Amino acid sequence: MTGFVLEARDVGVRFGGVRALSGVSLGVRAGEVCGLIGPNGAGKTTLFDVVSGIRRPDAGRVLLDGADITRRSPVWRARHGMRRTFQRQQLFGQLTVADNLLVAQEWRGGGGGLAADMLAAPSRRSRAAARAERATAVLRACGLASLADSSAGALPVGRARMVELARALADPPRVLLLDEPASGMTADERVQLSAVIRRLADEQGCAVLLVEHNVAFVMELCARVVVLDLGAVLAEGTAAEVRADAAVRDAYLGTASVNGRSTGMPAPP
Ligand SMILES: Nc1ncnc2c1ncn2[C@@H]1O[C@H](COP(=O)(O)OP(=O)(O)OP(=O)(O)O)[C@@H](O)[C@H]1O
Ligand SMILES: [Mg+2]
Repeated sequence: MTGFVLEARDVGVRFGGVRALSGVSLGVRAGEVCGLIGPNGAGKTTLFDVVSGIRRPDAGRVLLDGADITRRSPVWRARHGMRRTFQRQQLFGQLTVADNLLVAQEWRGGGGGLAADMLAAPSRRSRAAARAERATAVLRACGLASLADSSAGALPVGRARMVELARALADPPRVLLLDEPASGMTADERVQLSAVIRRLADEQGCAVLLVEHNVAFVMELCARVVVLDLGAVLAEGTAAEVRADAAVRDAYLGTASVNGRSTGMPAPP
């Protein structure tokens, strides 16, 4: 046993002639927030696609609790507690914030089928009430209670990002993949985001894999950091070890911004 809840082993992905990932291995334990950083095009999102099941790798395996899930569907993975957020914001813009969280719990079904719907069976009603309660609690924990009735499509980007996280938490995750959750957030919003992720790992034992260009944010939140470059793991270790790694500095950490997004790092002298 490796102790990893989530593991990628020797994952390889090709897009025609582009080798997006080759021989990538990493693991995340329960209660751990693991950072995944690297320059643009390093393969971070592609790895998330493989882990969440929307892309089949050309090589390698994905394991959940030590069992091979490489061929399992995204829905199967969600049923077993895996959630992700996307690099490009994907809220239901026409719905309210609260409804975004209710929809996220709807996939389990109400139970009892059509008859229960038509009769508004008590069990169905109590389940609906429990979901609404859960949505309210998650919104409160994410500092979004006052926005519950706002239209999700009208929110400023930082708040919308937080709603995406809240939606991923509406049904409690065991494994959470976050692709650039802090992008577009203000400094205050990042502090709040960091606290929510920390609590999720500490109090609920969730295994979190976090992709983020803001390296300062990652270094503060993550005990362990994996660095991808050109589709391969360049370095792995504690935040301090990674920060001190010469190859990582050359590839990445010397840059103050990536595609206009701040890494939170000082520019090289
Ligand atoms: N659908 C696709 N078709 C072809 N090439 C792709 C596709 N998706 C990604 N790539 C290529 O695979 C490589 C890895 O891309 P990926 O999006 O995983 O990087 P990333 O680390 O998430 O980058 P960023 O920090 O910019 O989000 C890049 O060279 C990219 O151009
Ligand atoms: Mg990406």
